Amino acid sequence: MKPEVLVMAASPSADVMAQLEQQFDCHHLWQQPRETQAAWLQNVAPGVRGVLTTGAIGINAALLAQLPKIEIVAVNGIGTDAVDLAATRARGIAVTNTPGVLTDDVADLALTLLLSAARRLPALDFYVRTGAWEAGKPVAPTRALRGKVCGVFGFGRIGRAIAARAQAFGMQVQYFQPRAIDGVTVPRAASLLALAQASDYLVVAAPGGAATQHAVNAEVLAALGAQGTLVNIARGSLVDEEALITALRGRTLGMAALDVFADEPRVPVALRELDNVVLTPHIGSLTVETRHAMGQLVVDNLSAHFSGKPLLTPVA
Ligand code: 8YV
Repeated sequence: MKPEVLVMAASPSADVMAQLEQQFDCHHLWQQPRETQAAWLQNVAPGVRGVLTTGAIGINAALLAQLPKIEIVAVNGIGTDAVDLAATRARGIAVTNTPGVLTDDVADLALTLLLSAARRLPALDFYVRTGAWEAGKPVAPTRALRGKVCGVFGFGRIGRAIAARAQAFGMQVQYFQPRAIDGVTVPRAASLLALAQASDYLVVAAPGGAATQHAVNAEVLAALGAQGTLVNIARGSLVDEEALITALRGRTLGMAALDVFADEPRVPVALRELDNVVLTPHIGSLTVETRHAMGQLVVDNLSAHFSGKPLLTPVA
């Protein structure tokens, strides 16, 4: 008998989905209409031994409590902030994630957003499409990236990959995170506030969760300032979204380029209406190559677990 796995969301890789079907008895929550999910879940929950979830969905204590036989939660993503780790630890449930394989694509998106904001890509795209160019309307120059300061909040794998890319554009990089990293040449600011004060662009690349909730608050946004730009590819929870909207509206913050939001997929209308924002729908890791690699790691972790082998990428 194949182990029963609850699949919370599909992978875009057909190969990954085929491997899941082949190795496990899959229960696909994502295929169920919202209205009937609760009843469907009650029916399948007693047999579920593994859960495949995403960084954004995670798994909460209530769902874990519904699964008496759960042994492993495999996260198809790096962030585990949406997994109730206290509950998994208390029951000895294994948790895995997908570090490493998504670093480059997420860092690429951070720079894509930074550049889009710096060079006002959405507004200029609109300018061409609407015929404003042909009508001879003026275009104001933007600011060069060279020599500007890129502050990176969170200097793990992704933060460091962002720093390397920013340096390639001739930017000066600084970082902040509570724990200093030995052996890096990039200077560490004394605090997040000091980093924001020094930065033209502040890129958020720290983990979500209680410790970083609203770390980017009104004070940090004010320090970044009217010429400053906030880029967030991490988690919406790190930024006080109300304060962000107020700062962008009042132009006390120059621009924001955001891939993540407080309550996805609900992006506040107030944010959507602003012209000094660039918005993408949480797609940092959404490339064919990376989603295949992430999905493969999920399948390999689940297979390792159910065949009694060591997990490839366990979450401590
Ligand atoms: C994914 C993410 O969007 O890695 C993460 O933590 O948020 C993203 O890479 C998500 O996990 C979907 O699979």
